[in-house]
Amino acid sequence: MTLRKDTMPIDDTVALRDALTSSQAQVEALQAELDETNRGVLALYAELDTQAQQLRQATELKSRFLAYMSHEFRTPISSIRSLTRLLLDRVDGPLTDEQEKQINFIRTTSEEFADMVNDLLDLAKVEAGRIDVSPGWFELVDLFAALRGMFKPVLVNPDVQLIFEEPQGIAQLFTDDAKLSQILRNYISNALKFTAQGEVRVSAVTAPAASGVPGEDEITFSVADTGIGIAPEFHDAIFQDFIQIGSPIQKRLRGTGLGLSLSKRLAELLGGRVGLRSEPGVGSVFSVTLPLRLPGAAAEVPDA
Ligand SMILES: Nc1ncnc2c1ncn2[C@@H]1O[C@H](COP(=O)(O)OP(=O)(O)OP(=O)(O)O)[C@@H](O)[C@H]1O
Ligand SMILES: [Mg+2]
Repeated sequence: MTLRKDTMPIDDTVALRDALTSSQAQVEALQAELDETNRGVLALYAELDTQAQQLRQATELKSRFLAYMSHEFRTPISSIRSLTRLLLDRVDGPLTDEQEKQINFIRTTSEEFADMVNDLLDLAKVEAGRIDVSPGWFELVDLFAALRGMFKPVLVNPDVQLIFEEPQGIAQLFTDDAKLSQILRNYISNALKFTAQGEVRVSAVTAPAASGVPGEDEITFSVADTGIGIAPEFHDAIFQDFIQIGSPIQKRLRGTGLGLSLSKRLAELLGGRVGLRSEPGVGSVFSVTLPLRLPGAAAEVPDA
């Protein structure tokens, strides 16, 4: 028998078949392994999904708990505050100096407690997405005048001046003035707390938006102080809940560390962002940048 030139010898064919069978087995093994890995990945995905859902539920429960708790605290606190007012007005007869001092102490503490409860309630509402933004047109000078009036009674340190710079070329803006005022109030009260000498300066400037679209201009409010300043490693952290930096001033002061985190969330709610530049021993500049007109809301240009 003659073998054709292109036909293989029997031994080679067997070897080839064996090799094919073995690589097919390898492919099958690999496929099985892949299937298994796939199933593992799918199971992991499912687990992640459940965990994300649990996390969402936990966050919602926490927010609801905070909201209920803070809400329930409001009534007793306000009755304590009304009672101290009655006593201080001498409705029930005269007070000795010592009694007056003690009642004043109860009054200040209950006011601080009320502020904390209000901050907690606001935070819970923001987290639950239940804070309504009510934008409107308002004048910048009116906002500054209202803030100046609010802080007048607390300016007790003669070595620190609170200055509101006259806004240049900005008349009106369309946003939620109450929320903007809340952000600035916290910045200013922080600045006054952490400044022993010098000034706290509030200013506002406008700038074209990064998008370059006319009508999307932004306004940046800054509260600059000559206080103790903040080391760079804390710049992000202080905008989180309950974060306070240890310092001799801090030990003498109260506060819960909620003001800045609330300010950050309120700024985001208004379509803006917060910022901070600070140097220890020199001072800090806290800022909030917002669109001049809150996007998404129908802003009819007011009569001039
Ligand atoms: N202008 C500032 N200069 C120096 N440190 C500051 C200044 N503003 C904030 N900080 C630091 O950031 C921390 C957090 O501020 P935040 O307003 O959140 O809380 P708080 O003022 O301590 O309490 P709360 O505002 O809830 O009454 C402060 O405790 C302080 O350590
Ligand atoms: Mg504060």
